[in-house]
Amino acid sequence: MNPSSLAPTVVSKLNQQLNHELGAAHGYLAISLWCEGQNLKGFAAFFDNQAKEERAHAEKLTRHLINRGGTPEIEALPAPKQNFKTLLEVALLAQAMEQANTRGINEVYEAALTAKDYPVQVLMHWFINEQVEEEAWTAEMIDRIRSASCAGSLSDLDRHIGRLLGGSKE
Ligand SMILES: [Fe+2]
Ligand SMILES: [Fe+2]
Repeated sequence: MNPSSLAPTVVSKLNQQLNHELGAAHGYLAISLWCEGQNLKGFAAFFDNQAKEERAHAEKLTRHLINRGGTPEIEALPAPKQNFKTLLEVALLAQAMEQANTRGINEVYEAALTAKDYPVQVLMHWFINEQVEEEAWTAEMIDRIRSASCAGSLSDLDRHIGRLLGGSKE
C-alpha cells in the first residue's frame, strides 16, 4: 500500500461520498423494481442503469482512495424507499437524491480545496459536471411525467424514456 498522501478530512469526505453513491445505487435499484412491478419496463430499465452508474461512481472514489494510500470504509446502507403512489413521486425522489448527491460532492470539493489536494479537486470536476447532467434528467423526467396526462401517453413515455433522457452514459 502507498503511504497515504491524503488529509484525514479529505479521506473522511471521500468515504462519506463513496457510501452516498452506494446508497443512491441501492435507492435506484429499489425504484427500478417498483417500476417493473407497475409494468413500466422503460422506466425500470432506465433506473436499473442509473443504479449501475451510481455503483461505478462509488468505484471511482474507491479507486482514488486506494491509489492514494487511503482506506475505503463501506458502511451499512439504510433500506431504500420501495413503495410509491405514483410515478411522479418516483421522479421527485430521484431529484431529491441527486440534489443531495450534489451537496455531498460539493463537500468533498470544499475539503479538497482547503487541503490543497489537487488530484481530488480534478476528480471532483468530473463529478461536478456529472451532477449537472443528473439534475437535468430528473427535472426533465418530472416535466414529462406531469405532461403525460392519460394512460396512453404514460405508456408512450415509458417506451421512450431511455432515449429521451439520454440513455446510458458512464
Ligand atoms: Fe453518482
Ligand atoms: Fe446520480
